Amino acid sequence: MLSDIERVLFDEPAIHRRLDEMAAQIMDDYRDRELTVIAVLNGSLMFMSDLLRRIPLPLKLDCLSVVSYHGKAQTSGEVIFKQVALPDVADRDVLILDDILHSGHTLAAIREKLEAAKSRGIGVCVLLSKRKQRARHVDADYVGFEIEDEFVVGYGLDFMERYRNLPYIGVLRKELMGQPS
Ligand code: IMP
Ligand code: MG
Repeated sequence: MLSDIERVLFDEPAIHRRLDEMAAQIMDDYRDRELTVIAVLNGSLMFMSDLLRRIPLPLKLDCLSVVSYHGKAQTSGEVIFKQVALPDVADRDVLILDDILHSGHTLAAIREKLEAAKSRGIGVCVLLSKRKQRARHVDADYVGFEIEDEFVVGYGLDFMERYRNLPYIGVLRKELMGQPS
């Protein structure tokens, strides 16, 4: 799989160092509040598990499963919620965890759903944020790393469901995505 990666952006130690900092910041901000973490599957799996083990607060954890890509490298704009029931967030302080902020469609749609479910406050925490013009505006409260607008995989992030198990984050070789860039 390593030969499919054009460039490693963040290796395991770099990711873990950054998670230490993010966890410290989240601990500070939520010390006196009972937090409900909503992780967006599948991309945030590794991020969620490594980050939350660094946050010794009495939090609740739930997951949401959405599809916005339909297996392609382009965002479709449509966000489909795969679950029938949303986690109960009424009157709770919610922190959404996602792998990457790209067009903003996914996080904006999730934020709307949680607002409609009458959560008290909504924070957004992403491992990666792409420097690009977004289709929908989303303010992320915690960002692991800002990256250029390149397609990355690993540490939970996939291309057509592959590469999620890489322990690092890297740029996928463009010829593997079957489209000119
Ligand atoms: P958005 O709705 O366009 O912000 O995209 C959010 C979702 O698209 C993320 O949760 C990822 O699953 C996927 N995505 C966006 N950019 C990348 C990338 O560079 N690599 C892998 N997945 C990505
Ligand atoms: Mg995702």
